[in-house]
Amino acid sequence: MPKLWAGRFEKPTDALLDDFQSSIPFDQRLIECDITGSIAHATMLGEQNIIPAADASAIVDGLKGILADYRAGTLVIDKGAEDVHMFVEALLTQRIGEAGKRLHTGRSRNDQVALDVRMYAREACAHVNALLKSLLDLLLSLSRQHLDTIMPGYTHLQKAQPITLAFHLMAYAQMFMRDINRFEHAYAEADVMPLGSGALAGTTYPLNRERVRELLGFSDVTDNALDGVSDRDFLLSFLSAASICMMHLSRFCEELILWSTNEFGTAVMDDGFATGSSIMPQKKNPDACELTRGKTGRVYGDLMTLLTVMKGLPLAYNKDMQEDKEAFFDAYDTLVKCLPTFTAMLRSTDFRREAMYASAGLGFTNATDLADYLVGKGVPFRDAHHVSGVLVGKCVREGRALTDLTLDELRAAHPAFDADVYDAISLEACVSRRSLRGGPAPEAVRQSISRAEEWLKQRRAGEQP
Ligand code: ARG
Repeated sequence: MPKLWAGRFEKPTDALLDDFQSSIPFDQRLIECDITGSIAHATMLGEQNIIPAADASAIVDGLKGILADYRAGTLVIDKGAEDVHMFVEALLTQRIGEAGKRLHTGRSRNDQVALDVRMYAREACAHVNALLKSLLDLLLSLSRQHLDTIMPGYTHLQKAQPITLAFHLMAYAQMFMRDINRFEHAYAEADVMPLGSGALAGTTYPLNRERVRELLGFSDVTDNALDGVSDRDFLLSFLSAASICMMHLSRFCEELILWSTNEFGTAVMDDGFATGSSIMPQKKNPDACELTRGKTGRVYGDLMTLLTVMKGLPLAYNKDMQEDKEAFFDAYDTLVKCLPTFTAMLRSTDFRREAMYASAGLGFTNATDLADYLVGKGVPFRDAHHVSGVLVGKCVREGRALTDLTLDELRAAHPAFDADVYDAISLEACVSRRSLRGGPAPEAVRQSISRAEEWLKQRRAGEQP
């Protein structure tokens, strides 16, 4: 098929360039956005008498026919087309004749592609957020079940202080809530209608941009034509949000991998979410977690790709920008695969309460509380810290726990110790005394869960379409 822009050329495009520049293999997934955008544009052109009303309705009907065929799975996409925009326009004219040639009045592929990608990005943000909300639902219900499940908390991957599984899971809930905010922000950035920007300098036709905005359900129209066709910030926001979200998933995966080792033994993955070895009969590998951790790298790569593509591009559109799509789609597809798999895997994971409790009892996780006990008896914290450290050292040498020390032994280190020390440094006490807002005490975590539930309820009530 001759190119729709071939007027000034004296010979056809070289086959090498045709193949090199074609974006239809990856931008065909924009087809629904492209057609919907063109229907709105043609409707407005007819209403404004920029093209005859009869042509506008022929265009709209023709486009609806193409969309129906696409949805029915009967549309044959021409792999030789330059891109999805040229494909749809050429097919339309093939189907409805002369009227089809009026569709592109007052429009450029530059504002057309910006529109299509913005429409797609809105859907992507809403979809990812729906998946994140399901994950959040699960975290909140798991947390309610594990308010009293004591486990060790770590710093430097060394046992630090006792916490609960609910508290640990709610840390991730905070991260995913921030991710939802970020995707909502990316949605809002994408939700601005660029048609009317033309190639770069707007257009001479009396377009009704407000009408197109309304037909396509955008919140606003772009305010500068040059920026309207040059801007891909909304995709960078999506990719940043995707990268940060993958980083959160990856950290969670890393912990689940650790917890399901023989050494930790605090989580057991469901057989449905683990794989075996072709040689070692005993193996049960946490592949879902490892792959999610691994795929984080490719999403970071997608962000770097687009940042680098955009760096140094002069205004306005440059063909470099066609490279935005594969990075964006890859990150989106990756999230859409990782999130439900991760959620299902987490849902089926068996957390071993006894093993977690036993593990929390080792490694002197109550040493801070031993010092705090002395502070309660009037000892300055720095001295109390030293006394507790001396007692830890003694226990390490003797292979004992702090609770194994007799009152005489404790008093030899400091006279302020009394018999109530044993209750004060029990794991339960260590957790329940940390009851400030944001702490691991069951009551504090219960309130944190309630706040998150309310937050989620409000998000769902005011959900972006
Ligand atoms: N396929 C192109 C892209 O994805 C469409 C825009 C082309 N515009 C142009 N002036 N060549 O960016």
